[in-house]
Amino acid sequence: MWNKVQETVKFLQHKGITTPDYGIILGTGLGNFVNQINVDITVPYSEIPNFPMSTVEGHSGELIFGSIGAKKVLAMRGRFHYYEGWTMEQTVFPVRVMKFLGVENLIVSNASGGVNASFKVGDIMLISDHINFLPEHPLRGKNELKFGPRFVDMHEAYSKKEIEKMETVASSLNIKLHKGVYLALQGPTFETPAEYKMVKILGADAVGMSTVPEVIVAKHMGMTVVGVSVITDLGIEGIVEEVSHEEVQKVAKISEKIVGKLVEAYIKL
Ligand code: HPA
Repeated sequence: MWNKVQETVKFLQHKGITTPDYGIILGTGLGNFVNQINVDITVPYSEIPNFPMSTVEGHSGELIFGSIGAKKVLAMRGRFHYYEGWTMEQTVFPVRVMKFLGVENLIVSNASGGVNASFKVGDIMLISDHINFLPEHPLRGKNELKFGPRFVDMHEAYSKKEIEKMETVASSLNIKLHKGVYLALQGPTFETPAEYKMVKILGADAVGMSTVPEVIVAKHMGMTVVGVSVITDLGIEGIVEEVSHEEVQKVAKISEKIVGKLVEAYIKL
């Protein structure tokens, strides 16, 4: 793993990608955030040594390096989901690479199903914490100390300081934000009503199929993380409605303009 990461890092450095201020993982339907980036370099995943390739509909796979204002950003347009069949190692590989390209601050985004009764479709939730309910852990196995310690502190997986900064930016832009706990399930099925209920009982506000592995690995390597989730459907008792990938993407597309504004202003600050 270590050698693979170093090889990929060298390849991307040769392409001209150097010490980005922010790494961004663009989730479902948030891919258009690239329009806000002053793009210098685009590298399709298929050209990057050791990279898995993104296959899910709505996730084009490219690494995008550019700037937002005075800040250099490296965005992943398309991420790797465990449910696609990638190993955990493959799922988190790009985050390892980001770290060794110099990324210290990671912004993650996703779409999720809301179980908090005050949420509405299209709302935006800052991730305050997560619950890992995936069947495998990305740090299982021999620990590579060059990446980080065996036992990783997770008392503040999502930076309180960065959450506050995001909230300040949101209020200056008049953007309404929720704050809540994101629970990750394997998918690819959406939740049954009983499962949504379970998610709520477990203490989460939203449920999705991604993000948690990347955040765990980012914390393993000492990165600062902030996460934004678009609530694309609701799993609230009594009003669990039919949900489809198309619907999730449609809602995410509408909210992505607001999330885009928010993240842009956050990065510029
Ligand atoms: N469950 C899991 N993942 C999701 C959902 C959901 O309800 N909505 C968007 N992504």
